[in-house]
Amino acid sequence: MGCPGVPHESAPDAGSRVEGTFIVNPVSDDRTRRPKAETETVTETLDRWSRLSQESSRFDPALYVEYDVKRGLRDLTGKGVVAGLTQIGDVVGSRVEGDSRVPAPGQLIYRGIDVVDLVDGFLAEGRLGFEETSYLLLFGELPDGDELRLFGDNLASYRKLPRQFVHDAILGMPSHDIMNAMARSVLSMYLLDKHADDTSIANVLRQSLHLISKFSMLAVYAYQAYLEEFCGKSLVIHRPAAELSTAENFLHMLRPNSKFTPLEAQVLDLSLVLHAEHGGGNNSSFTAHVVSSSGTDTYSAIAASLGSLKGPKHGGANIKVVHMFDDLKLNVRDWEDDEEIERYLLRVLDRQEFDRSGLIYGMGHPVYSVSDPRTVILRHYAERLAGEKGLAKEYQLHAKVETLAPQAIAKTRTVYKGVSANVDFYSGFVYQMLDIPQELYTPLFAVSRVVGWCAHRLEEIVSGGKIIRPAYKSVASRREYSPLEGR
Ligand SMILES: CC(C)(COP(=O)(O)OP(=O)(O)OC[C@H]1O[C@@H](n2cnc3c(N)ncnc32)[C@H](O)[C@@H]1OP(=O)(O)O)[C@@H](O)C(=O)NCCC(=O)NCCS
Repeated sequence: MGCPGVPHESAPDAGSRVEGTFIVNPVSDDRTRRPKAETETVTETLDRWSRLSQESSRFDPALYVEYDVKRGLRDLTGKGVVAGLTQIGDVVGSRVEGDSRVPAPGQLIYRGIDVVDLVDGFLAEGRLGFEETSYLLLFGELPDGDELRLFGDNLASYRKLPRQFVHDAILGMPSHDIMNAMARSVLSMYLLDKHADDTSIANVLRQSLHLISKFSMLAVYAYQAYLEEFCGKSLVIHRPAAELSTAENFLHMLRPNSKFTPLEAQVLDLSLVLHAEHGGGNNSSFTAHVVSSSGTDTYSAIAASLGSLKGPKHGGANIKVVHMFDDLKLNVRDWEDDEEIERYLLRVLDRQEFDRSGLIYGMGHPVYSVSDPRTVILRHYAERLAGEKGLAKEYQLHAKVETLAPQAIAKTRTVYKGVSANVDFYSGFVYQMLDIPQELYTPLFAVSRVVGWCAHRLEEIVSGGKIIRPAYKSVASRREYSPLEGR
């Protein structure tokens, strides 16, 4: 991804010190302490084996239809197979009209409450909302004032990591990829926990609260380690502050001077609220269900969900959107020319442009059709921030692509339920305006979604109770084993 500038301002001089902050000299340029991989290239043998692997993995897609296999656990119209029951979140993209279901404006429901009402509620009371949302998702009820304070105090008291852990598990082996670093940290947290394998609800809840409170530390410290190791920046480690919320702590720990404005904290908090939960069927929450159903420990389940969220078709899409816009700006000269923008989008769909995946990132969703409610809220803040930051033209460009992309997709793909901008379409742009480095876009998603994962893990343990094990139809023909000689 390349080394960014330190967000907001240059890192302070090496060796300087502010309260609660430790800034050490950058290590020398000697990178030899990292093990060198010797087997990174694709050799001729690997190339040959990869062809074998491809040939033996491929089969006729018509077989999915022949055996009525729901590819991607979805039917031909994209509708998901019902694989479980949940009370945590609901994602609505259609409504019943007469005898059929028709596309409808999207709704996201947390424990029965429309997320739009939740957001309106805490904003009207001038509060941040992520902690309240977390309580609601985990316990099924809105907290009263005392409960909310108690919950916040608990998270603050858990927001600590042993010095040795930070040193060895996070700073000791930095990664270019912060999601990868976080997954490693989560697996390492198993070692710190005397009751790591205890799957009783009280213990899993304790582990969940530890993870929810510590995730912002795991993300930011891994990023600081990355900056120091790969970008030659000074190492900046701020301790979290007990009086700050999750969003505020994230900004405080990220920025060398720890400063942020109330609007920045509010927008980040809002983004965390909107990413916290998305039903049981989204890839990473379903992963939490699948892995938890085997009876394994909390750290293994959450590390698996992190791996899922990293994918560019899931949480990794927000960075892809930003990169796609960078590419679009290089290829489209007139940002107001709809036809030129459409030509670019069609080239993306035709795998001629950008990452050649054929995907327009930030567009489409397995459930939402007409609109994604999270996008509607984020778009409003994107426009407001863009106005304040003198980026109105960039916002206009986003708005144009938001209109043109669904039309381009409909021209080149079979779309049953409609395609519209998803949450990732504006989240990257918003994070850019908050001076959050790209490396942290998907980790920020994780800082929020870990709440949903934990709620779904708890629900799986309480109400699931059966190992998730779907069937696969074998389409291979039988044959005889042949002795080595004569093959
Ligand atoms: C999220 C996503 C995987 C959902 O795909 P899906 O469940 O197949 O969605 P639909 O059923 O509405 O798709 C209908 C068709 O349009 C295509 N399509 C949907 N969104 C598309 C996009 N953004 N770019 C290109 N094609 C897209 C699908 O591939 C499908 O065509 P296919 O049957 O030939 O594969 C898909 O929209 C996508 O990859 N989007 C880009 C990545 C992204 O932004 N992810 C974040 C999701 S929050």
